[in-house]
Amino acid sequence: MKLKFTKPGKKAARTRADFAKLPRHVAIIMDGNGRWAKKHKLNVAMGHRKGTETLREVIRHTDDLGIEALSIYAFSTENWKRSPEEVGALMQLILDFFASEIDELDAKNVRILILGDKLGLPEKQRDVLVEAETRTCRNTGLKLNICLNYGGRAEIVRAAQELALLVQAGQMRVEDITEEAVACHLYTKGQPDVDLMIRTSGEMRLSNFLLYQCAYAEFLFPKVLWPDFTVADYDDALEAYGGRERRFGKRL
Ligand code: IPE
Ligand code: IPE
Ligand code: MG
Repeated sequence: MKLKFTKPGKKAARTRADFAKLPRHVAIIMDGNGRWAKKHKLNVAMGHRKGTETLREVIRHTDDLGIEALSIYAFSTENWKRSPEEVGALMQLILDFFASEIDELDAKNVRILILGDKLGLPEKQRDVLVEAETRTCRNTGLKLNICLNYGGRAEIVRAAQELALLVQAGQMRVEDITEEAVACHLYTKGQPDVDLMIRTSGEMRLSNFLLYQCAYAEFLFPKVLWPDFTVADYDDALEAYGGRERRFGKRL
């Protein structure tokens, strides 16, 4: 047996073999940065910055566990309603995050996909995002979906418009618009549905995240604020997922 040495009070990160069942696709609503900043009497931007440290650890652990896909809610189509200062800080964090992480992610064979309306983002951010997607497009490891300027309803509307265009052009029949066909026109094309959705900070809502893909997801709402969320909390969530009975409508 391999012995794990850790600091007292700190749980060792678990490995794939420690879990009886792991999700193929994890989605995370990283919530609570604002409350964390307030609690520590800091500017909200500091809460978001601390949140990116959590994100780095969570991505690493997801990759170590060999999970297929991770979707991260980083900026919603509704988050433009925040102050220009906060939106500006979040936009800067996008640049900082990719500058510091892209080499490691690429080296780890992670494929980065940006889900959301890139055209609605400032040009500098758009360029960095397109570059990250292009650079990692042949990678075959973890699919890392970073959802930016993302809205679940907008994603479904976009799929409907693409399908309508195909029908209008005579390339598709109305009866070919199946659930699979719709899924093929979502940003997550080719990926499994979300198995586990985690939202930190105790809020229990979807806030327009991956509406179509979460049809049969298991939900977990840990109370911890995102900047305080640890790999051990993540392991606890994955363990709890393993204990869930997924019925998909059947009687087991
Ligand atoms: C989530 O943290 C991060 C983003 C929305 C980008 P919040 O900023 O929503 O944190 P709270 O909900 O105000 O605590
Ligand atoms: C959802 O969190 C968006 C992200 C985490 C990026 P919000 O904090 O914006 O959601 P609401 O407003 O509380 O529903
Ligand atoms: Mg919030």
